[in-house]
Amino acid sequence: MSDILVSEQSAPGADGSGRPSGRLLEVEDLRVEFRTRDGVAKVINGVTYHVEAGETLAVLGESGSGKSVTAQTIMGILDTPPGFVTNGQVRFHGKDMLKMSAEERRRIRGEGIAMIFQDSLSALNPVFTVGFQIAEQFRIRRGMSRADAKKRAVEMLDQVKIPNAKGRYSNYPHQFSGGMRQRAMIAMSLALDPEVLIADEPTTALDVTVQAQIMDLLGELQRERQMGMILITHDLGVVADVADRIAVMYAGRIVEEADVFELYRKPAHPYTLGLLNSIPRMDERGQELRTIKGLPPNLMNIPPGCPFNPRCPMAQPVCREKVPPLLQVGAGRASACHFAEELVNRD
Ligand SMILES: Nc1ncnc2c1ncn2[C@@H]1O[C@H](COP(=O)(O)OP(=O)(O)OP(=O)(O)O)[C@@H](O)[C@H]1O
Ligand code: SF4
Ligand SMILES: [Mg+2]
Repeated sequence: MSDILVSEQSAPGADGSGRPSGRLLEVEDLRVEFRTRDGVAKVINGVTYHVEAGETLAVLGESGSGKSVTAQTIMGILDTPPGFVTNGQVRFHGKDMLKMSAEERRRIRGEGIAMIFQDSLSALNPVFTVGFQIAEQFRIRRGMSRADAKKRAVEMLDQVKIPNAKGRYSNYPHQFSGGMRQRAMIAMSLALDPEVLIADEPTTALDVTVQAQIMDLLGELQRERQMGMILITHDLGVVADVADRIAVMYAGRIVEEADVFELYRKPAHPYTLGLLNSIPRMDERGQELRTIKGLPPNLMNIPPGCPFNPRCPMAQPVCREKVPPLLQVGAGRASACHFAEELVNRD
């Protein structure tokens, strides 16, 4: 049996809202490597997380920790080659998508699981109008007439609060501001009413005020639709208001998972502590952002023992020898640190 915290089987069922309850999407002990001319990069090294209907899981970690590659594997858009899944399962309603046919997976994309990409300009097709791109989904996947599809697309643009949605339908992506393009991306990803939405850094390219508006909109739509949402970010400040649970990633592993309140109150992993300490505080304006010392490991040569040990202020000799498994350290929380119990039980 794997020493990774194993998710229970999903338990879909009716909850009265018309939405299935329980675990919609489960990633279990996922491993992905990139085989390149320079060597093999072990990019995902046993990721286990899940999302339930109506909740938001934030996936947090520094650049290169594997947040997007995990999402790409879930969506079936991993760049293969050079990327290969070497282990694990990605279950949607309990069924392993990695074993499904291309046709079965295609049907899940959009209706079951949809994704918003960081870069809306390259995700939208520049040669078609924004409205047309949304309407096409209704025509192709729902078999609607041209007129009905257009009507639904305008409604979608309206739902994401694009002013004058009817007039804006005929605009091309370059005629939209960055914030509006991101709203259009949200409309496009929600068109087929997915059960799970993966939002990969949906606001990084935007200025701070627009970021907040887009996050509010996403939170609102997630609650209204009772979707399960996976929000990928490297910004702890962004997730506090929106997420229910947080999974912290480091070097292709989940190193801590907890509900937001517990994680902020008492991190159970030194890496999470480091991330929390790197948020600038209001009373420290003008001061330099504190960052975690050192760099993430080279994924072609991950250090033995705990991958965080070269940067960890708490490291002990055991940390250089034994990989700490992700183990439960309290109700609904898990940590991959040899000293997690001490961290959780400290005053
Ligand atoms: N097509 C590819 N070929 C080779 N290596 C890749 C490829 N795509 C991703 N990687 C590597 O996989 C690792 C994880 O990348 P990933 O994009 O998942 O990081 P991330 O956590 O999403 O980071 P960011 O916050 O910068 O988006 C990185 O080291 C990256 O260089
Ligand atoms: S296992 Fe050791 S090196 Fe790794 S995070 Fe815990 S204390 Fe630090
Ligand atoms: Mg990424």
